[in-house]
Amino acid sequence: MTHGENGSVASVRGKLITLEGIDGVGKSTLAAALHAEIARERPVELLREPGGVALSERIRDLVKDPELRCDPRAEALLYAAARAQLVDERLRPWLDAGTWVLLDRFVDSSLAYQGAGRGLGVEAIAELNDFATGSITPDLTLLLRLDPVTARARQDKRLVAPDRLEQEEHAFFATVAAAYDELAAADPRRFRVLDADDTPENVLMLARIALADLDSPRR
Ligand SMILES: Nc1ncnc2c1ncn2[C@@H]1O[C@H](COP(=O)(O)OP(=O)(O)OP(=O)(O)O)[C@@H](O)[C@H]1O
Ligand SMILES: [Mg+2]
Repeated sequence: MTHGENGSVASVRGKLITLEGIDGVGKSTLAAALHAEIARERPVELLREPGGVALSERIRDLVKDPELRCDPRAEALLYAAARAQLVDERLRPWLDAGTWVLLDRFVDSSLAYQGAGRGLGVEAIAELNDFATGSITPDLTLLLRLDPVTARARQDKRLVAPDRLEQEEHAFFATVAAAYDELAAADPRRFRVLDADDTPENVLMLARIALADLDSPRR
């Protein structure tokens, strides 16, 4: 809490931390562990995309369904719609109340997958998502980096049928991984790139180090 000049009490905005990286890189594994650690220190919520609220979970079922045809533009719009609802219903209210939010995928996923992977253009997808989110930008983005072959092997170990996007070929994920690298290089202040080719415990430790300077006043 901060006290304003007129004596009013206003919440300090919570921090938004996003987890990014190609399928199977270990985002959800890290998200759960990191959430448990941060929760010992402050109020923090964990959300995943697409999903997190009723409308967005239904959109999640649509975009992941291997039985459905989905044009790349329709795909980009569905993700953006799911994101808009999540921002309105949960993300913005929580951040405004001072709660930290850990988010398993956000706008960067669309930039990498739909902008680069589907070839719609990173700029166009960025504009679409600015509209969808009202230009919310993460305070910190942890990019888990792992070569696509190892990431695929991890995914295969999960023993659940691949969804529509996971059925894509190696070249698609290589394009998406390269796009993530470019996004991180273009915004080093927001991104921390973590080597995900390590044990879950060590990846968690790298994430903790990356988070350490979030409280510092210069951010
Ligand atoms: N550091 C690690 N080392 C080895 N295996 C891991 C590691 N982290 C996660 N895994 C395993 O790899 C698989 C994929 O992990 P996880 O589901 O967390 O990836 P993800 O990035 O969330 O994937 P998706 O994008 O498909 O949601 C899981 O079976 C998980 O247990
Ligand atoms: Mg996941």
